[in-house]
Amino acid sequence: MAAIKILPDIYSVGVVDWNVRNFHGHTYTTQRGSSYNAYLIIDDKIALIDTVFGPFARELIDNIKEVVPLEKIDYIIANHVETDHSGALPSIMPLCPNAKILGTAKCKEGLYKHYYQNWDFQVVKTNDQLKLGRRTLTFIEAPMIHWPDSMFTYCPQDELLMPNDAFGQHFATSQRFDDQVDQCALMDEAEKYYANILWPLGAVILKKIQEIQKLNIPIKIIAPSHGVIWRQDPARIINAYISWAKGETKDKAVVVYETMWGATEKMARKIVEGLASAGIEVKLYDVAGSDRTEVIAQMLTAKGFLFGSSTHDNDMLPNIAAFLEIVKGLKPKGRKIGFFGSYGWAGGATKEMQEMLKDSGVDQTIPELSFKYVPDVSELTSCFEFGSKFAQSLNSCGSF
Ligand code: FEO
Repeated sequence: MAAIKILPDIYSVGVVDWNVRNFHGHTYTTQRGSSYNAYLIIDDKIALIDTVFGPFARELIDNIKEVVPLEKIDYIIANHVETDHSGALPSIMPLCPNAKILGTAKCKEGLYKHYYQNWDFQVVKTNDQLKLGRRTLTFIEAPMIHWPDSMFTYCPQDELLMPNDAFGQHFATSQRFDDQVDQCALMDEAEKYYANILWPLGAVILKKIQEIQKLNIPIKIIAPSHGVIWRQDPARIINAYISWAKGETKDKAVVVYETMWGATEKMARKIVEGLASAGIEVKLYDVAGSDRTEVIAQMLTAKGFLFGSSTHDNDMLPNIAAFLEIVKGLKPKGRKIGFFGSYGWAGGATKEMQEMLKDSGVDQTIPELSFKYVPDVSELTSCFEFGSKFAQSLNSCGSF
């Protein structure tokens, strides 16, 4: 993708990664690909805001060259150390002999521990400013959004916020702006991104948004480091983040299970009928064949989750175990959870699932339902009632 002018003298020079399907190792599936966004500001001084993932360094360099020779770059703003944004630095720094890198103290430390280079680096803090000429850049430290080094860069003259990972989406498109893409796909990817990457950081995110709102700075455009730029209505994504960070939920439950010979699946399907009978929205996933990133996204706005597993060697099955490890890390505070499953001669799966999530911040009034071998008609009726009762408990403060 070539350099694209997004505002007078400001260019998008990042790259689209059309083919990436796994992110953060294999913890996040990126079915719509992604992009690594970088922005070039041309003023009396020239600043590059972030770089791209290392394998795409050549494309970044070519994009910058379309606008300006690299040796003219005066500053590289490193909003975030993570390699998808800093990975091109080792390739680009030798081509920018006059460039100084600006970032937080943690960024300086982190970049050194990634690349072991003694680049010219200036540490900046919240409210520090860099005068480029007609424009200035203001820095806002944003630790843990989503690494300790993270920082936002704001340009008051253009009312442009460049918050790096915040407000991003893993969304590969040939378009650069929110108003040019399918709106459902856009919000779907933004929600998926928040749920899978930022969910455990809700308190920090809420505090940072409130801090920025108190600064009373106008924000006309939000240019994140992944996906498209929010120019149509930036408040839309800010308000969505506020809602997600507050843990606002709908009358919705998500049921996730893994089954060995189908008995636990029978239970799951009847439980879903019970949940639905209470008038709430329900999503059902066999975790062994589902996209875990999509399941987590569905869980973000659900009031409750039910997890099922057959018992195998006195424990849960391996795919649900891997999934619950992710759920544990997301710390889904305030959600109600329950467990179910079929066993043979001895149980164990429901107990082990409870044990895994006991410190995850979920509501600890935990219902559980287990049956030996294949559930009969009466046991399936109990599954229906289990679902119905769980759904009713989602709208009350009482126990299950
Ligand atoms: Fe897109 Fe935290 O890196």
